[in-house]
Amino acid sequence: MNPLELARAQPGPAFTVTLDGREIEALPGQTIAAALWAAGVTSWRTTRGEGRPRGVFCGIGVCFDCLVTVNDRPNQRACLLPVQPGDAIRTQEGTGHED
Ligand code: FES
Repeated sequence: MNPLELARAQPGPAFTVTLDGREIEALPGQTIAAALWAAGVTSWRTTRGEGRPRGVFCGIGVCFDCLVTVNDRPNQRACLLPVQPGDAIRTQEGTGHED
């Protein structure tokens, strides 16, 4: 039984967003992180120094491990930001800025 079934959730219709140009399905009420997890993606950022993969760590907006670029805005916390139809999500390298 998945979490939706456990909670007997009845979200609205799914919509499409993209991750690095690849279409993935998202549900109303999900965060960016939840939508990525549901699509099987667990890492969407690399660290500045060594390029190590990062995704969700705390899941509550404290650690900033989940930073991601959404609609050309870098450093968005994927665990807090609600996913919106048509969002263009991009893997974030380092600071997310051209430097
Ligand atoms: S996972 Fe810690 S701030 Fe998002």
